[in-house]
Amino acid sequence: MALSPHMNVMIRAAEKAARSLVRDFGEVEQLQVSRKGPGDFVSAADHRSEEIIFEELSKARPDYAFLMEERGKGGSADAEFRWIVDPLDGTTNFLHGIPHWNITIALEQKGEIIAGIVHDPVKNETFRAEKGLGAFMRNKRLRVSGRTSLEQAVIFTGAPRRSRAQQDLFMLEYEAVQTACPGMRRFGSAALDLAYVAAGRCEAFWERNLNPWDCAAGSIIIREAGGLIADISTPENPVFTGNILAANSALFGELKKLLNEAGQGKNAA
Ligand code: IPD
Ligand code: CA
Ligand code: CA
Repeated sequence: MALSPHMNVMIRAAEKAARSLVRDFGEVEQLQVSRKGPGDFVSAADHRSEEIIFEELSKARPDYAFLMEERGKGGSADAEFRWIVDPLDGTTNFLHGIPHWNITIALEQKGEIIAGIVHDPVKNETFRAEKGLGAFMRNKRLRVSGRTSLEQAVIFTGAPRRSRAQQDLFMLEYEAVQTACPGMRRFGSAALDLAYVAAGRCEAFWERNLNPWDCAAGSIIIREAGGLIADISTPENPVFTGNILAANSALFGELKKLLNEAGQGKNAA
């Protein structure tokens, strides 16, 4: 299947960075046993990955702006296009030798995400989508799941690491959803969580306080796979509020209600 020039640029950059990360991931397992642990090594691997992506993307499209997890914002504020990049999503998994992490790159045009990839080199899975052209993994069209009952659903989530208030809200939400849906999972990579909703491997995912680089690519992959993604409780763009609910259309409304009611303490004992 012929890929668009933008998609080719994104995949080439991600694959080049992945070769470096895969080599480093092999080392992490050796470092696990050392007393100092692999923390500094992983943060160097993360930076190396971002440098490779930055170099590849800016060589291919010198005029595009960027927003990258480590570098922050760059390029002209008037640029029509902007890359949004997480050079290593699932860092804690990587650090612990758990083979569930990815590189994710999105392309924004005038504030709208128009393309995205989530590249998992360990499983050799690249989830990709472009606006209006569908979502794919290995040339297979992606579709969100058709399950309509929460009782039979599998739902992914991620927990906040920051304030007490955020953790308290998470526990309320978790309890409310878990009561309706016994199949809960927490895998530690928001970009892959979103890609898996698009692939129909689970029915929904929610997480608060994400950054745009965690969810920009996933947002277009979900939409192009026929799913819904929105802010949990406001009409704002979820990629920039970071409070994400993504689901198939059958379960989206019910979950949104459960989460919002939990937040207002309606489900508290
Ligand atoms: C994190 C992962 C994790 C999510 C965190 C993210 P990082 O990204 O996506 O699943 O729970 O909110 O920050 O730090 O591994 O790039
Ligand atoms: Ca991330
Ligand atoms: Ca990261």
